[in-house]
Amino acid sequence: MNGKYNASKLALSFVKDEMTIGIGSGSTVEVFLNLLGDRIKNEGLRIYGIPSSYQAMIAGAKNGIIITDLLDKEPDLCIDGADQVDSRLNCIKGGGAALTREKILAFASKKVIILVDETKLVEKLSMPVPVEVLPFAYGYVMKRLSSICKPNLREGKGKVGPIITDNGNFILDCDFGIVENPEGVDKELKVISGIVENGIFSSKLISAVIVGNNSSAKLLKH
Ligand code: 5RP
Repeated sequence: MNGKYNASKLALSFVKDEMTIGIGSGSTVEVFLNLLGDRIKNEGLRIYGIPSSYQAMIAGAKNGIIITDLLDKEPDLCIDGADQVDSRLNCIKGGGAALTREKILAFASKKVIILVDETKLVEKLSMPVPVEVLPFAYGYVMKRLSSICKPNLREGKGKVGPIITDNGNFILDCDFGIVENPEGVDKELKVISGIVENGIFSSKLISAVIVGNNSSAKLLKH
C-alpha cells in the first residue's frame, strides 16, 4: 500500500458518527474519502461534509457524505492534503488551486489534520507559494509581487490561458526561494489588495500531520 493510503487509514480513526468534516481537495483526500465511504456504508454512519472544491463535493457525495455548508454546520474536523510540510509543520498548499476555501475551512474547524506521504516532508518550505488573485487585479498584483518574489501565472491543462479557480480567480505561483519565515510571507501577501488568499498554512492552524509511507503511518504534532 502507498503512503496516501496508509495516512488516510490512520486518519479514519478520528472520524466519529454524526461528525461534520471540512473536506480538503486533492488525490490524498480522495483516497481518504473512498475509505470513509466504505465505513459509512458498512457501519451506517451519518457524516456531514463541507467541501473545499467541486472535486471534494463530487467525491464526498459519491461516498455517502451529506454535503452541507458553513451556514448550517461548524466542522469538527478538517481533513486535507498538502504540497510541502516543514519540520515545524508549516505547510504550502494550493497545488490543486483550492487553497482559499481550504484555508477558510481550516480556520473554521475545531481540529485540522493534514495527510501526506513522506515525499512531502522538507526541512524548510521552498516550493513556489500559490496565490489566488482576482482577475481584475492581475496587472497590479503582478507589479507588487515582482518586488518580493518571482510570480508566475498558472496555465491550464485542457484549456488555453490561465487556470480559473472554483471561485473564478487566477493562481500565481510565487517563488520566494527558501521560505525562512512562513508567517512573515503570509502577512506580506495578505496586505496586497486583489490577493484573495495564499497557500501558506501556518503550523498554528494545524492540529496534526499524518505521514504515510509504503508500510505504515505516523502522527506528528507540535
Ligand atoms: C489543493 C491542495 C492539495 O491538498 C495539495 O495540492 C496536495 O494534493 P495531493 O494530495 O494530490 O498531493 O492544496 O489545493
